Amino acid sequence: MTDIVPEQQQPAAVWAERYGNALMNTFGAPQRVLVRGEGAWVWDADGARYLDLLAGIAVNTLGHAHPTLVSAVSAQLGTLGHVSNFFASPTQVHLAERLLEIVEPGGAPAGSRVFFANSGTEAMEAAFKLARRHGEGTRPRILALEGAFHGRTMGALALTHKAAYRDPFAPLPGGVEHLPFGHVDALAAAMGDDVAALVLEPVQGEAGVRPLPPGYLAAARELTSRHGALLVLDEVQSGMGRTGRWMAHHHEHIGGGVVPDVVVLAKGLAGGLPIGALVALGEGPATLLGPGQHGTTFGGNPVAAAAGLATIHVIERDGLLDAVVERGQELREGIAALGHPLVAGVRGEGMLLAVMLTRPVAQQVAQAALAAGYIVNPVAPDAVRLAPPFILSSEQARGLIADLPAILDAGGAE
Ligand SMILES: Cc1ncc(COP(=O)(O)O)c(C=O)c1O
Repeated sequence: MTDIVPEQQQPAAVWAERYGNALMNTFGAPQRVLVRGEGAWVWDADGARYLDLLAGIAVNTLGHAHPTLVSAVSAQLGTLGHVSNFFASPTQVHLAERLLEIVEPGGAPAGSRVFFANSGTEAMEAAFKLARRHGEGTRPRILALEGAFHGRTMGALALTHKAAYRDPFAPLPGGVEHLPFGHVDALAAAMGDDVAALVLEPVQGEAGVRPLPPGYLAAARELTSRHGALLVLDEVQSGMGRTGRWMAHHHEHIGGGVVPDVVVLAKGLAGGLPIGALVALGEGPATLLGPGQHGTTFGGNPVAAAAGLATIHVIERDGLLDAVVERGQELREGIAALGHPLVAGVRGEGMLLAVMLTRPVAQQVAQAALAAGYIVNPVAPDAVRLAPPFILSSEQARGLIADLPAILDAGGAE
């Protein structure tokens, strides 16, 4: 590696300048230059250490450099790194089988199938195309919710609600309507036999970690079934254990026992390697896309699939779904118990949480947290998102809670 990047040891300021001169400015200036990670910790180019409470935006569920993940990926890369989708690989098949086991509590219904992509937006793009195939042209409408974030490619962007993301790229694929969040009456009024799909996030992550209100998903299932529309759940951020169940819709108070037609996964699926998956539940949805109608060079790549298998294995072996529930509860209760005047409450589920603020100073709070050695994310002007690795220890959670009053004081200072 030192031959390939001979000058790896450079101060952060040098890297930041080189970043600005080499990378397109789509993300703004990077906050730090990170060079190493271990468990829930990361280190920057100047040697400072941070507790990573964002995990690459809900991705690194096993933390950084997890030995099982490292050895699974290394072994796979040393055996068979990539094949085209003209061929199958055992890891790809095995991962699809594992996803079919965990996507619903009792396993996926007969006939269910998986399509692998490389990211959340790509998997949503596949879901969009699948929805277009439903009804053979007789169902031109697709319903989504206000506040929705489904990705940045053109189809996924058409499903995304935020004007600032959409407007510069008009015209987007048509037929998508955004309905008021959590409003069953509005959904009932909009639903019809010309609707191909209703696309929902069980917990809207980018909108500030907003779980769907109890009863909404059950009503959505009833209405979509009545009108023959597909119910597509975007669990890209909320799935793969992030909320303490394999899928957020498995929580009774969110999902109400609902079985969707399509579940979309990415982010935490392979613990940090790029992957996305579209899981079509039942034979009807699973056969909407036929040979030649969709494809990808890298999707289902053996290395990413091996990472997915290793991630699922460690979560099961180490009881990490329970850890997510326990640690999430500890964070939630500990932060609420501070009684800090800037904290309006904590919302979310498991380890997908937002500290709600009484004033729109999330940006300043996140900066104060970084200065104090914590990586968090100002997901909305008044919401600071926490999406830590599942291996976060109780001691690390308590460390944050102890340091939070000073961080909030600094971030909230007028
Ligand atoms: C719910 C949801 N869907 C889709 C995406 C897009 O995923 P990606 O960034 O991997 O393209 C995201 C990313 O934040 C997401 O949160």
